[in-house]
Amino acid sequence: MGHQIALTAALAGFQVTCTDNSQAMLHKAAEFVRTYLPERVLKGKLNQAAADKAQANLKFTADLEEAASKADFVIEAIVEQLAVKRRLFAELDRIAPPHTIFATNSSTFVSSKLADATSRPAQICNMHFFNPALVMTLVEVVQGPHTSEETARVTMDLCARLGRNAILLKREIYGFVVNRLFDALRNEALFLAETGIAAPEDIDNAVVKGLGHPMGPFRLMDLIGIDLLVDVAREKYQETLESGDRPSPLLVEKYAKGELGKKSGRGFYAY
Ligand SMILES: NC(=O)c1ccc[n+]([C@@H]2O[C@H](COP(=O)([O-])OP(=O)(O)OC[C@H]3O[C@@H](n4cnc5c(N)ncnc54)[C@H](O)[C@@H]3O)[C@@H](O)[C@H]2O)c1
Repeated sequence: MGHQIALTAALAGFQVTCTDNSQAMLHKAAEFVRTYLPERVLKGKLNQAAADKAQANLKFTADLEEAASKADFVIEAIVEQLAVKRRLFAELDRIAPPHTIFATNSSTFVSSKLADATSRPAQICNMHFFNPALVMTLVEVVQGPHTSEETARVTMDLCARLGRNAILLKREIYGFVVNRLFDALRNEALFLAETGIAAPEDIDNAVVKGLGHPMGPFRLMDLIGIDLLVDVAREKYQETLESGDRPSPLLVEKYAKGELGKKSGRGFYAY
């Protein structure tokens, strides 16, 4: 996610420094940019001058100090581990100028879990991009109880300047908007399949033809990966112990059989 967000900002005219604690990942990110931009030019989607400008706007370094010491805005997209993110936020707080805003791209942690690792909670918020970030234009900006109006406004303005369609959540909630909506649809789809009311293909057909979605929930689960969905569901259930959060038996069964979706060649569909 990080390199695609960085390139999105570079294409929008911002000076961006992309950093990672792994040289190999930085190298991969730089390679991606070096092939992506000429491909876009070849396809006629971008002119050569704009590609050159984006390339010139984007720097890569493993040195966090170099990346953050002059940054006005930081978008964090590192591993989804709270302790690791908190350590990074504390470090960024020491390095970045006092006015700098820190946004997290986390899919599951609201920014109040990070804000108190810094001395600037008013300048901390969520900025949740969708994968692939160069293609998907939605961003969910979440204003926590600690986030100032000014931070929310600047972050929304930044999204607009990045050519993204941002929505502002005025309160923190697990799953934000899109994942909550998808969870509700998916849970109902799994219930209909588990009770034998309709087959997964038919439920997908109903969602595509009846609701106008580009893809049904079972096909989408195959794309996301059934292992990831079961892991996330187990984690959530351990936290809430709500019976409604128990991982779906149908998903657990597929997981046990190694039918993990597209990546394993079989999930709800065969690939
Ligand atoms: N993949 C998605 O579909 C998606 C969508 C929206 C949001 N997100 C969120 O984006 C974040 C990253 O997800 P991803 O899928 O790109 O993960 P990823 O594992 O592909 O990338 C994480 C990167 O963070 C680097 N990293 C780890 N610890 C670091 C540290 N201490 N300092 C600097 N770099 C460090 C790793 O080397 C790696 O390159 C997560 O918070 C995730 O919840 C992911």
